[in-house]
Amino acid sequence: MLADISATVALANGVEMPRLGLGTYKSAEGGDVERAVETALSLGYRSIDTASLYGNETGIGRAIAASGVARDDLFLASKVWNDEQGYESTLTAFRRSLARLGTDYLDLYLIHWPRPQTRESWRALEHLYSEGTVRAIGVCNHLVHHLDALLEVADVTPMVNQYEFHPWLQQPTLRTYCQSAGIVVEAWAPLMRGRAGEVPEIRAIAEAHHATPAQVALRWLLQLGAVVIPKSVHPERISENADVFGFELTPTEMRAIDGLDRGVRFGPDPDRGGER
Ligand SMILES: NC(=O)c1ccc[n+]([C@@H]2O[C@H](COP(=O)([O-])OP(=O)(O)OC[C@H]3O[C@@H](n4cnc5c(N)ncnc54)[C@H](OP(=O)(O)O)[C@@H]3O)[C@@H](O)[C@H]2O)c1
Repeated sequence: MLADISATVALANGVEMPRLGLGTYKSAEGGDVERAVETALSLGYRSIDTASLYGNETGIGRAIAASGVARDDLFLASKVWNDEQGYESTLTAFRRSLARLGTDYLDLYLIHWPRPQTRESWRALEHLYSEGTVRAIGVCNHLVHHLDALLEVADVTPMVNQYEFHPWLQQPTLRTYCQSAGIVVEAWAPLMRGRAGEVPEIRAIAEAHHATPAQVALRWLLQLGAVVIPKSVHPERISENADVFGFELTPTEMRAIDGLDRGVRFGPDPDRGGER
């Protein structure tokens, strides 16, 4: 059900994850990220996505503390960066993220990019999961062959795969794989990095619904079953991006957007080494 911003999806272990959260990549540490998180929480967002790479966990922690929202009502996700991968170094990175965020557990901890050490990093995530300091664990930017390799050695199947997913990059085979393995798909760059308005078909659908192109891009992903984490530091856009529960795309409109796949990436290709 996509009734409102409180909509959730149940992960494989039963943990409920909000269908829409706030992305924070490039939301600068300090005032920018703090204002963005405060605004989002006041509008009803309850999920925040960050990463040690983003360098903004301290500000996010401060904004959460100032908001008065109970920790239990939040879904907080962070990620282990490439140079932190490995067993012990992942455990250390996790504790550092906790300290910066001012919390004693995470709702979701993710491996940021597949790396040669991902097997060891995954063992560390499994350890954190078994000790209860993280409620769910997952990966990012894993293609089918990365998931195949991980599932061969994993005791716990990743509960989430967060990867680049928008009308210009749809990767239907990866999505089907995740769905059949019980892995929730979380879309990054769901707003096409702010470029949805450049696509005439999306603009036309937006006009028909008195919505914006950004809202149509998000709505399409939500109706496909993905979790979305649009990023903005602007209050009016943070509000606009959450206002996607009052209209529904028709099957014809959904198919029209399905037809826009161009295999275009805004971010690095996981098969070409991903992000360093
Ligand atoms: N796991 C990974 O490897 C990975 C990689 C990339 C991103 N992520 C996560 O996914 C989140 C979302 O992805 P993203 O930040 O790359 O891209 P995105 O959310 O698709 O786009 C963000 C860009 O769109 C602009 N924007 C926001 N709302 C808008 C609106 N309503 N209309 C027009 N433009 C708008 C933002 O500018 P303003 O801020 O100036 O409004 C920003 O430049 C990230 O923030 C991060 O949390 C994960």
